[in-house]
Amino acid sequence: MNRIFNSAVCAPALAALLVASLLIAPARAQDYGDTPYVQTPQNVVDKMLDVAKIGAKDYVIDLGSGDGRMVITAAQRYGAKGFGVDLDRRLVTLSNRLAAKAGVADRAVFYERDIYETDLSPASVVTIYLLPEVNLMMRPKLLAMLKPGTRVVSHDYGMGEWTPDLTFTMDAPGKTVGREKKSKVFYWVVPARASGKWRWRSAADGGVARDFELALTQMFQKVEGTLSVEGKTVPIEEAKLVGETLSFVARLDTSSPARYEFNGRIINHAIEGAVRTVRAGATPQQQSWSAARTEIWEPRHFALPAPTLVPPQQ
Ligand SMILES: C[S@@+](CC[C@H](N)C(=O)[O-])C[C@H]1O[C@@H](n2cnc3c(N)ncnc32)[C@H](O)[C@@H]1O
Repeated sequence: MNRIFNSAVCAPALAALLVASLLIAPARAQDYGDTPYVQTPQNVVDKMLDVAKIGAKDYVIDLGSGDGRMVITAAQRYGAKGFGVDLDRRLVTLSNRLAAKAGVADRAVFYERDIYETDLSPASVVTIYLLPEVNLMMRPKLLAMLKPGTRVVSHDYGMGEWTPDLTFTMDAPGKTVGREKKSKVFYWVVPARASGKWRWRSAADGGVARDFELALTQMFQKVEGTLSVEGKTVPIEEAKLVGETLSFVARLDTSSPARYEFNGRIINHAIEGAVRTVRAGATPQQQSWSAARTEIWEPRHFALPAPTLVPPQQ
């Protein structure tokens, strides 16, 4: 229930208050109603954790944890650790009790806390079953606070322009909402910041050393750009960014065409990896690849307008 609408203020005053708050304050999901409590059916919980490839080293945070099933299952079946947060004190108490009953109270803990005030930085996996607009409001926080490579799994709702790396629909016979007993699962890997200009000098396949410049733009995990060497610029192909791992192909050197396959890990403003050079009729050559970021550009998703939210019905 929306906290504003819980107040005892009369309806016209309330409407005026809402209009005034919309005019003076940026939209916050809290103002559009908190997600009601609906359980994720256990078979969907299991599938979400499977998709995230949870292991004993994982730290799982469930946003709006209900009866705690997501973190308790992660601890019980996969040996993971983690916590859940929920605004409903009774659900938090119940979750801690169920964790103790399952013998995982040391690894699955639940707090009465608002998702908007939760530090997400320890997570290697975040699970979500919230309303679509709440997902959108959480999106910047997820992208800013989570480490690159963190997996995010959401039940039923996506993240707008942040297209999932994987999505599917599955049977959910235990579902308590909706006519169709089906659930959707969405999965993302938080991308590193790749956008900017990157430079390096190398003799890509053992020849004379040359200066390379990679110019990358980024929209969430989608990257595109160009590679320039000695005044020649080509678009990069097959570009992929999965967490910190960047890979792409560039076709250079038209006189003796070569396919350069770059693969590296972005760590802050450095890339460390390898480049494999493939030329027709020759054995592929591989050598190490190190690049340094010389210009940082804001990812294009930073410029997306704030989500348009529908105010709650009175
Ligand atoms: C749809 S239920 C999901 C429960 C559980 N994660 C599951 O999948 O079974 C959403 C939960 O989020 C909680 N919630 C809603 N808004 C919240 C907020 N701002 N901060 C923390 N919890 C919230 C609700 O109390 C509810 O238990």
